[in-house]
Amino acid sequence: MSALFTWACLLQLLQLLQLLLLLLWTGSAAQDKTPDVAVICSNSEDCVLPCYFQPGQNEMVQWFRQGALVYRFDRNGSEEAFTLPEVADRVFVSAQQISNGNATLTLRRSAPQDRGLYSCQVQTSGGQHTAKVIVKVEAPIRGLFLEHSRLSGYEEIKCSVPDVFPAPRVTWATEPPTFEDLRPVTRKHVKENGLFSVDSRLTKLKGQPDLIYICKMSTSYSRSTWTASLREKEITGTEGRDLTIRCLAPTYLKNPSLYWTFSRGDNSTLILSYDSQSDRKVSAPSWDGHLDLDVYKAKFGDGSLRLMEPRHPEHSGSYACEFSEKFSRHVERIRVTISGPHAGQRAAVEKPSYWWILGVVAAGLVLVLVGLLAFLKLRGRDKKPRAHSDEETELNRVKDGESPQ
Ligand SMILES: *[C@@H]1O[C@H](CO)[C@@H](O)[C@H](O)[C@H]1NC(C)=O
Ligand SMILES: *[C@@H]1O[C@H](CO)[C@@H](O)[C@H](O)[C@H]1NC(C)=O
Repeated sequence: MSALFTWACLLQLLQLLQLLLLLLWTGSAAQDKTPDVAVICSNSEDCVLPCYFQPGQNEMVQWFRQGALVYRFDRNGSEEAFTLPEVADRVFVSAQQISNGNATLTLRRSAPQDRGLYSCQVQTSGGQHTAKVIVKVEAPIRGLFLEHSRLSGYEEIKCSVPDVFPAPRVTWATEPPTFEDLRPVTRKHVKENGLFSVDSRLTKLKGQPDLIYICKMSTSYSRSTWTASLREKEITGTEGRDLTIRCLAPTYLKNPSLYWTFSRGDNSTLILSYDSQSDRKVSAPSWDGHLDLDVYKAKFGDGSLRLMEPRHPEHSGSYACEFSEKFSRHVERIRVTISGPHAGQRAAVEKPSYWWILGVVAAGLVLVLVGLLAFLKLRGRDKKPRAHSDEETELNRVKDGESPQ
């Protein structure tokens, strides 16, 4: 009874909170309403700065960037001028569109240097119009590079991204989470074109070899956060014996696709892929009969690969298991060594030589024994005649004794 009562109270409270949030939200939305337009342009692509006005006669259009005149059009005399050298050859306004009340400016091949406050001032026989446009230029993150490095005696993980703008925020985490302080060193390098190259290095924690290191980067313009993680392992197997190469998706990935690649030297080939959305598994024909993936387990993040009847030089190499989603990628690199013919077979191969030595030793022993026996027998035969002679002499003595009789 009392439980039901508290439950009802809680529900009411939640409803109240919802109402409050809604009020706050609409309030802030109303406050945010400004006549300025903000446009986010993609670096090196065309950028459109809108300016619409009530069409009229004798239009005079002027575009400014941070107060400096960029473009000027005067219908009276039909003159058009591009005045700012930095952008002069990249600016375009359609004179034909101006008569329709459209003074939109197109900035070709935009770059971070083009950022700023632009304004469009139009004067017509009908009146004046001013529009402000805040221009942001973004070079979005297209992917993170994560790698191990063993330079200067430290085991490090390096997370890097080239050509981004604005400079991204970098954070690190581990899975499972650790209470130790992660102290990454992050460097942001500005290139001539205004774009950033960022790399962040993290020293691996000692005594925790199985930790997954997760690097996250995000820029203030886009809401998406890019995530990359990495783990490296080494395992050994024996020829002809099935081997399971374990690979589990970290928990931050929700519904990733799975790719297994095999590489030796510079050659890297996709050997198996599994798409969790379509539940489709594809494996390379050349690996037929050697790979097995439990699709049911893969759906729940266990992408372990079963290597069946692996062969000695052929299946040794670097295997990479990659779980990926739109903005996230986890890679597990496993160096697999398949040792030659397995223990039993190797013993079988070595046996003949072993037995050969034993055989020689045994033969030698037998020879020695036979020799010894022969020697003993010979000695025995030498002795016997002597015994005989003793007997004979005895007999002879008897005979001799007898003879005097
Ligand atoms: C157009 O130019 C003429 C002279 O060529 C000038 O008399 C007139 O005032 C100008 N009109 C506007 C709107 O600037
Ligand atoms: C305004 O002019 C630009 C060219 O400067 C054009 O691309 C755009 O489509 C025009 N807008 C409309 C609504 O016609």
